[in-house]
Amino acid sequence: MVALSRSMWWLVCCMALCTVVVGEEILLKWHVKINNGITPVSQDQPRAGGGFGPIQINNMIAIDVPFPKPEQEFDLLIGDWYRQSFKDVRATGGVGYFPDSMLINGKGPYLDPLSKAHESFNVSKGKTYRFRISNVGNLWSINFRIQNHTMLLVETEGSYTNQVSLDSLDVHVGQSYSVLVTADQNAEDYYIVATPKWVNMTKPNAIAAVGVLHYDNSNTTASGPLPNGPDPFDIGFSSIKLDPSIVKRKVAGPSRWNLTAGASRPNPQGTFNVSNVTLSQTFVLHGSFALINGSPRYTVNNVTYTTPSTPLKLADQFLNGSGVYELDAFPVHSSLPDPVKGTFVVSGIHKGWLEIVFRNDLDRVDSWHLDGFGFFVVGFGLGEWTPEARSTAYNFYDPIVRSTVQVYPGGWSAVYVYLDNPGMWNLRSQNLQHWYLGQELYIRVNDPDPNPAKEHPPQITSCFAVVYCNWMHSCDPVKWRYHSGFNRIFLNVNKIGVSISRK
Ligand SMILES: *[C@@H]1O[C@H](CO)[C@@H](O)[C@H](O)[C@H]1NC(C)=O
Ligand SMILES: *[C@@H]1O[C@H](CO)[C@@H](O)[C@H](O)[C@H]1NC(C)=O
Ligand SMILES: *[C@@H]1O[C@H](CO)[C@@H](O)[C@H](O)[C@H]1NC(C)=O
Ligand SMILES: *[C@@H]1O[C@H](CO)[C@@H](O)[C@H](O)[C@H]1NC(C)=O
Ligand SMILES: *[C@@H]1O[C@H](CO)[C@@H](O)[C@H](O)[C@H]1NC(C)=O
Ligand SMILES: *[C@@H]1O[C@H](CO)[C@@H](O)[C@H](O)[C@H]1NC(C)=O
Ligand SMILES: *[C@@H]1O[C@H](CO)[C@@H](O)[C@H](O)[C@H]1NC(C)=O
Ligand SMILES: *[C@@H]1O[C@H](CO)[C@@H](O)[C@H](O)[C@H]1NC(C)=O
Ligand SMILES: *[C@@H]1O[C@H](CO)[C@@H](O)[C@H](O)[C@H]1NC(C)=O
Repeated sequence: MVALSRSMWWLVCCMALCTVVVGEEILLKWHVKINNGITPVSQDQPRAGGGFGPIQINNMIAIDVPFPKPEQEFDLLIGDWYRQSFKDVRATGGVGYFPDSMLINGKGPYLDPLSKAHESFNVSKGKTYRFRISNVGNLWSINFRIQNHTMLLVETEGSYTNQVSLDSLDVHVGQSYSVLVTADQNAEDYYIVATPKWVNMTKPNAIAAVGVLHYDNSNTTASGPLPNGPDPFDIGFSSIKLDPSIVKRKVAGPSRWNLTAGASRPNPQGTFNVSNVTLSQTFVLHGSFALINGSPRYTVNNVTYTTPSTPLKLADQFLNGSGVYELDAFPVHSSLPDPVKGTFVVSGIHKGWLEIVFRNDLDRVDSWHLDGFGFFVVGFGLGEWTPEARSTAYNFYDPIVRSTVQVYPGGWSAVYVYLDNPGMWNLRSQNLQHWYLGQELYIRVNDPDPNPAKEHPPQITSCFAVVYCNWMHSCDPVKWRYHSGFNRIFLNVNKIGVSISRK
């Protein structure tokens, strides 16, 4: 989990709207709150076109990790992939398209005649390796497995988990896990496989991502049928197999921190026991599908998000939202009776605890991500959520902190977030089709103290200037200076473009 403290200006205002100009360096400063793990970096549609890559974050040397140092670490960015141009796919938001294949680190399946290359990892017998697995796909959850090898789950999105030995692991869109794999089999080659979940296919292995685990001195190629995964529709496997001890507590995925080492303490009350927190707010958000004027859209409480032409943070800073969004105009506890389009911005109470219940009305897994915060995953269930679930289905003791939570079809997942990071934060489905077609909203966490040490002001790059000038319909440096408060920075517009100088 990477929380971008104090940098939301850049994230919300500019990164999403700007391309990096050749020759211009964009320095993205942030404050890492929990310091291990891996996070896939991606921006909406560029992701479908391959615009993503890993940022690996390691512990400071002084902090022990709760397992011996592995021989080597491998990154595996796995995702579904369309053969069509992503521009074509984007034109419908992906509706009507079905992914054609699954890739590992951008490489096609082993033995597939259409693959120009396949991914392969070299290992030595007896040694242990860390695999950092991220689902960077658009649509599908995956089941990951390595032929004839077990995996020890140790980490997810920056939290060390209770350690669980697994034959296979579900990774939902936008999620990341680390597993340790010991090369304890004969010195041969083995398949590494990821298959789609919640997709009804007669032969899921036919569309699998396939790579190779290659032992030193191996003289044989990987052989035999691809190892089979669990029933792709089995919620029980996906949620509970990870830790049989949590069956009663019904917590999705690995539920607990491993606090023996390596953990920084995100809970400001100095404990991982969240049973005692006082909730300031609860949102119950239904993710659903609607036809609006005949067009397919995804909705949150029957609101499909409309992106305004003015970046929200600028509207917030300079216009108090006026003419761009109306704060708290949409319900956060229930759905509107009919679907509407709207710029859904809701108030979050600064330094309050927020409970978010994600309810999934769709027939496939959804995954929800909140920028700017990690959240404590306290519970999940099937059917409708009721407040009684807090006493019957929640786990308050050392719940895992992560940035992306899955929500099973027809079910709900509940998280707690401590809103200590002021800003205008995006809460969205990581499923690209859902996100692109409107399943998102913003949470405005306002700190009335306008201390720039708390929220770094925007960085002045030509990119920011273009966004700003588009918004202003003018690049008058006086206006710029007046509105931005950067009274020593001037914009110079010439035939070549926009440059910035300090005076
Ligand atoms: C937590 O990590 C320690 C190593 O620091 C390990 O020995 C222990 O088994 C782990 N506990 C659980 C519950 O996974
Ligand atoms: C993996 O091993 C093969 C031969 O066994 C070798 O050709 C290849 O260069 C090795 N790859 C890496 C990344 O070390
Ligand atoms: C999968 O498709 C088959 C054949 O169309 C159908 O009989 C079956 O009910 C489907 N299963 C699920 C879980 O949708
Ligand atoms: C593979 O072949 C080489 C050369 O014949 C041999 O030295 C090596 O032991 C073989 N590896 C295994 C695992 O049998
Ligand atoms: C390895 O896995 C295959 C299935 O992929 C299985 O048929 C075979 O028995 C396994 N071999 C061993 C030694 O476990
Ligand atoms: C629980 O909250 C109360 C009131 O805020 C506080 O006095 C108490 O110390 C807390 N207990 C724990 C275990 O955090
Ligand atoms: C968590 O805190 C609550 C309230 O302070 C307390 O009753 C409970 O025993 C604590 N649970 C654990 C496992 O420490
Ligand atoms: C900003 O808008 C909110 C309503 O969205 C209103 O309550 C508040 O008074 C406004 N603040 C100013 C300074 O106009
Ligand atoms: C959302 O709108 C649709 C279409 O009018 C309606 O059928 C549905 O009941 C609404 N959803 C909720 C949860 O009220």
